[in-house]
Amino acid sequence: MKKITVKDFREMKGSGHIISMLTAYDASMARLLDQAGVDSLLVGDSLGMVVLGYDSTVPVTMEEMLHHARAVSRGTEHALVIGDMPFGSYQVSVEQAIINGTRFLKEAGCDCVKLEGGREVCAAVQGLVRAGVPVMGHIGLTPQTAGQLGGFKVQGKDMTAARQLLADAQALEQAGAFALVLEAVPAPLAKILRQKISVPVIGIGAGPDCDGQVLVVHDMLGLFEKFTPKFVKQYCHLAPDITQGVQAYLQEIQTGDFPAEEHSFAVQEDFSALLADKEE
Ligand code: KIV
Repeated sequence: MKKITVKDFREMKGSGHIISMLTAYDASMARLLDQAGVDSLLVGDSLGMVVLGYDSTVPVTMEEMLHHARAVSRGTEHALVIGDMPFGSYQVSVEQAIINGTRFLKEAGCDCVKLEGGREVCAAVQGLVRAGVPVMGHIGLTPQTAGQLGGFKVQGKDMTAARQLLADAQALEQAGAFALVLEAVPAPLAKILRQKISVPVIGIGAGPDCDGQVLVVHDMLGLFEKFTPKFVKQYCHLAPDITQGVQAYLQEIQTGDFPAEEHSFAVQEDFSALLADKEE
């Protein structure tokens, strides 16, 4: 299968194909998702919550992101790999954003980066794009600054907030972002934003009228049980499957049903004489 590029990704808007995106944090999951045919894999900073056990995405570091992004790149042949810039890695200066953004491409094999924010991050977006790092924007509910937004809440609910979001989307497009993630906004607003900008709009909790859809893989597979946002559909229920499998293993090693003959190595040699060997 051919590798998907940023150019391919852009051209999918309006092609009739809905762009698929899932998060991935390690090589084996990346391989499974890639082979299933997903268009793009986001090494999201949701890593912090669903894999590393933090309470939010705020503590996630560049080193943690790069470590997992490398693994995802090793497991991917086809999908576009997007590295998520963690909180504090692009807000200080354009120079800082370029230094960290280029690391995702140079050290982790990512194809592009994603960062959160609207007009306030446009200088960083422009700097990165000029430096040769393709950037995906992320507006609406931005988990890194959820505190400022009043928590994990739907954004753009009234006309003033909707206008702000539209202005952010247009500014990001102008700054050179090749696509936008739009998180937790009313479906009718997403439909309009998608029409007003020329780059693909990837929705998460933004309804059906988007150019693409993204979910956190642990949410859609039913692997993360701490909480499930309203916009998640669980396509599998892996957490109870894992508990059941582990409990069966625990029982079988006690009863001796595991390991069975087919899981053990046999030889012709009779080792019983070893029992009679005297200790030196
Ligand atoms: O970190 C992440 O997983 C994300 C998605 C929710 C879009 O940013």
